[in-house]
Amino acid sequence: IHVEFLDYEVLADYGWSLDDDDLFRKASHANLGEAEYGRLLVQPDESLLEGAENRGFGWPFSCRGGACANCAVYLVEGELSQPANHIMPDALAERGFRLSCNGYPVSDELKVVFNVKHLPELDDLIL
Ligand code: FES
Repeated sequence: IHVEFLDYEVLADYGWSLDDDDLFRKASHANLGEAEYGRLLVQPDESLLEGAENRGFGWPFSCRGGACANCAVYLVEGELSQPANHIMPDALAERGFRLSCNGYPVSDELKVVFNVKHLPELDDLIL
């Protein structure tokens, strides 16, 4: 499963928005560090967070159990499973927010912005 990722902090630094149609194209041209933007392969039996960790990336997390939202990501493309027992409100899930600690890719390709816990909408959820 191919995952293209981008650190939310880069959006803040460059003044980009999650809604930008060409967000990943801009990122690919911005000469970002390899932890900020890049690609990784996730195995079918790995959650997105595990996949990132097992490839050497340090993405944020805390509980690893769907209860704190520190591991939240935003889906630009593709789909990530969301277990029934989780802290993400439906309204945010519908907009494309997911938890990476217990979310498994269910599409062959994913584009995700990780580290979105700094978004105001998610602040209240962070424990
Ligand atoms: Fe707490 Fe994912 S690490 S919900």
